[in-house]
Amino acid sequence: MKILIATEKPFAKIAIDGIRKIIESSGHELNLLEKYTDVSQLLSAVADADALIVRSDKVTAQVIAAAKKLKTVVRAGAGFDNLDLNACTEKNIVAMNTPGQNSNAVAELVLGLMIFMSRNKFCAGTGKELKGKKLGLHAYGNVGRMVARIAKGFDMQIWAFDPFVKKEAMQADGITAVDKVEDLYSNCDYVSLHIPANETTKKSINYKLLNLMPEGGCLINAARREIIDEDDLIKLFEERTDIKYATDVAPSNIAELQQKFDARIFATPKKTGAETAEANINAGLAAAVQIINFFKNGDTTFQLNK
Ligand code: 3PG
Repeated sequence: MKILIATEKPFAKIAIDGIRKIIESSGHELNLLEKYTDVSQLLSAVADADALIVRSDKVTAQVIAAAKKLKTVVRAGAGFDNLDLNACTEKNIVAMNTPGQNSNAVAELVLGLMIFMSRNKFCAGTGKELKGKKLGLHAYGNVGRMVARIAKGFDMQIWAFDPFVKKEAMQADGITAVDKVEDLYSNCDYVSLHIPANETTKKSINYKLLNLMPEGGCLINAARREIIDEDDLIKLFEERTDIKYATDVAPSNIAELQQKFDARIFATPKKTGAETAEANINAGLAAAVQIINFFKNGDTTFQLNK
């Protein structure tokens, strides 16, 4: 089988070496399309692929239509908003992700962003410590849990809102679990977003919610750009000169935000949460193993379009 890795943002070489070993030792062929600049390159590379591994690369209906032999696509990572699941289902293509594999990298970045913002972006001026502050996790999945684990080491008080996780499970982890999302924002000094981008969550982080944050509140977004209502963010920043925002996914109005509120806002130039050798190895190798097992035994454990 021909397995294509198509990554606009490539995996570390050490991860590619590991993936190659897994694929070739199972008798399959690895093809690489890295740092492509135009979708036409992806469309032609995918034409004869039996399996596809991507990161945040958009696997649209157009890509699926061009992939005449494709049987499975694996998003090496957690969020799968870049995959057109309906298009996959229509062509009987099994879409999968690799949940949890890159979570620690994202969680470490969250703590890094919290410290960076609390110390005035490492510029002059009196900063604040994380110790004793309340951290609100908006969703308690793989990344949220790892953020909680690390933040406990900073002596933070951890709160979480997640209607999909049992309150008892959060409480067993020493987390204050809230029933209403508003309670998270009105109580926590820091709120870290860990919800996926989908039709329900898009623009759900809005003025009403953010304005509940206490004096000096700091919002961290290592999830997805689309979940923020960007017009509301500007309104909030204009009214609340105490609020800070650090994001791993630059808002589309970042130029305006930076021009007006530079000291209180930070955005990474390119999504960097999962950009560690370890995360590349974990997610990339997991994707390769999932594909091998799919071809060998029909294993669809991580299938998304069931
Ligand atoms: C994910 O959903 O797994 C993360 O956002 C990482 O995305 P990336 O593979 O594009 O770095």
